[in-house]
Amino acid sequence: MIVVVTLNPALDVTHFVDRADWSGVNRPHEVQVRAGGKGLNVARTLRALGQPVLLAGLAGGCAGQALAAGLAGTGADAQLTSIAGETRRTFVVADRARGQTALFNEPGPCVSPAEYRDFTAVYARAVSGAAAVVLTGSLPPGVPDDAYAGLITIAAEAGLPVILDASGPPLRLGAAAGPTLIKPNLAELEAAAGRELRAGGEPDRAAIEQAARDLSAAAGQAGQAGRPGSGTTVVVSLGAAGLLAVGPDGGWHARPPGPVAGNPTGAGDAVVAGLADSLVRGRDWPAALRHAAALGSAAAAAPVAGEFAPADYERLVTMVEVAGSPARPGGVR
Ligand SMILES: Nc1ncnc2c1ncn2[C@@H]1O[C@H](COP(=O)(O)OP(=O)(O)OP(=O)(O)O)[C@@H](O)[C@H]1O
Ligand SMILES: [Mg+2]
Repeated sequence: MIVVVTLNPALDVTHFVDRADWSGVNRPHEVQVRAGGKGLNVARTLRALGQPVLLAGLAGGCAGQALAAGLAGTGADAQLTSIAGETRRTFVVADRARGQTALFNEPGPCVSPAEYRDFTAVYARAVSGAAAVVLTGSLPPGVPDDAYAGLITIAAEAGLPVILDASGPPLRLGAAAGPTLIKPNLAELEAAAGRELRAGGEPDRAAIEQAARDLSAAAGQAGQAGRPGSGTTVVVSLGAAGLLAVGPDGGWHARPPGPVAGNPTGAGDAVVAGLADSLVRGRDWPAALRHAAALGSAAAAAPVAGEFAPADYERLVTMVEVAGSPARPGGVR
């Protein structure tokens, strides 16, 4: 079973309107309400891959109840620690005439220290029976920036591989705890490196590799035994350009056949699910990266975040090109 931590889940509410009037009354012709957030996207993809999932998170208020009810359809088990605050909503207005979508992402409820302690007790019990842990998404107000670092340490003590997908201070502090794998996108890696990794506006491959290598080396000093190999591998996602992985086992680039049209939001979550699936199944890095890149592209081709068409995945996985090589003995290439 894979534990997916979702500390700031959301109830995604989408109003579909013909043409939004920003100073008048709007009457949506359709309203969709769905349990959402990055953890939910990862969980849905893992379920589609046949993995048992336990979602561990925080939920409160009416939105929290609706979220818990919405989880039933995902096929994932859930242990949501109850909080006094109201689970956040992401509110979307989809304007058909303009072909535009406006997102309003609430920050999330304020979580008390006692509530977060209750969550960590639930989490520690959950990891004792798990095969891997995924830590993903933003932290709600009140949860300390080093929360992921603490959760990585608990999982490491239980001997579990951990994947971290975060940004800002939770990424920096979490990386220092030495997770098995970190999955930043380009903007998140730039923020962690403290410098731009583009030349003339285009991603600079050499600079990205160096920043990923630095992050891997800094994280590796904490040292957590993981699979495959040990230490921290950094897998940078580069949109349609695929995945660049650097770690103690070597360096690889997995390139999808080309850009797909659809909804790229959540493509990174599909990558995280593919990597977690591969850690648990013991795939080697080239196979893991091929699988993850194909899942990301299939997710980008699907209209709804957290979903993909299996036929897209089957077609893409044969077309992803993986280049690179294992490390020379003695460390990262
Ligand atoms: N337009 C696209 N065409 C083809 N493949 C794509 C496209 N966008 C994303 N992908 C695939 O999905 C992977 C992850 O995408 P991306 O780098 O956009 O993740 P992300 O920014 O973390 O996304 P999110 O956080 O919204 O889930 C890429 O490495 C690639 O394999
Ligand atoms: Mg992402």
